[in-house]
Amino acid sequence: MIDNDMSTGTGGFGEILVSSRSLAEYRAMFALTDDDLERRILDCPGGAAGFTAEVTRRGGEVTACDVAYFDDSLKHVAATAVAEADRGNRYVREHADAYRWTFFTDPGEHHRARRESAEHFAAHTRAAPHHYVAASLPALPFPDKTFDLVLSSHLLFSYADDLDYTFHYRSIIELARVATTEVRLFPLISIGSSTRYPQLAQLLADLSEAGIRSRIARVDYEFQAGADEMLVCQVPT
Ligand SMILES: C[S@@+](CC[C@H](N)C(=O)[O-])C[C@H]1O[C@@H](n2cnc3c(N)ncnc32)[C@H](O)[C@@H]1O
Repeated sequence: MIDNDMSTGTGGFGEILVSSRSLAEYRAMFALTDDDLERRILDCPGGAAGFTAEVTRRGGEVTACDVAYFDDSLKHVAATAVAEADRGNRYVREHADAYRWTFFTDPGEHHRARRESAEHFAAHTRAAPHHYVAASLPALPFPDKTFDLVLSSHLLFSYADDLDYTFHYRSIIELARVATTEVRLFPLISIGSSTRYPQLAQLLADLSEAGIRSRIARVDYEFQAGADEMLVCQVPT
C-alpha cells in the first residue's frame, strides 16, 4: 500500500508509504477547531503523522493507532519516517501537475513540512510511545466510547481498489464504536481518481441503518486534485 501522495516503480502503485502529515494539515483536512483539539482524539491510521506529537505538546489528549506499530515496527517507522517523507516528496515533484499548490505553495514547502512532521513523530514515539498503539482495522483494541472524536485520513476511500466495501463498512462501524460523538474521514476519493467513492451512497445508507447519520462537508484543503471533502459520521448516544 502506498500513500496517495505517491506511486512508485514504473507507474503503478505498489510500495507502502507511511506518510507524515502535520497538525496544520489535519486542522485543514478535518476542519478542526481549537475546541476540537481539547477533546480526547483517536487518529487511526496515525502513520508517521506529527499530529499526535503536536497536539500533545499543546496539552491535548491524542492516541494514534496503526497496523504499522505492531511489535518493533514502531521503531522502524520512526527510523524511516524522514526518508519516507523524502521519497514521497520526490514523487510529488515528478507529478506536480496532479496536485493543487495552494496549501503548499510549491514542492519545497511540501518537503519541509512533511520532514518536520516526520521528525516530530519520531521524537515523540521515543519520548512517549504509549501514545502509539498497534491496531488493525476493522478491529480496535479500545473499549466503547474511549474517545470523543475519531479521525481517519488516507486509508478508507483512498485505497478503494484494494479494500472492499465490507472493510469500509466494518471499519467505520468500529471507529464509531470507540467514539462518543463523531468520526471524520478524509478524503472521499481514491488514489488516481477525482470522483467520490462509487459506493458512497450505499455506504451512507447502510451506516444509517446501523444508527450512524453521516454528512459530507467541503473543507478548506485540497492537495490531491479533487480531494476537498470529508465525511462526518455522528455517533448515536
Ligand atoms: C497513507 S498513511 C496515512 C497516515 C496519516 N493518517 C496521514 O495522513 O499522514 C496510511 C496508513 O494506513 C495504515 N494501515 C493500512 N492498513 C491498516 C489497517 N487495516 N488498520 C490500521 N492501519 C492501517 C498504514 O500502515 C499507513 O500508515
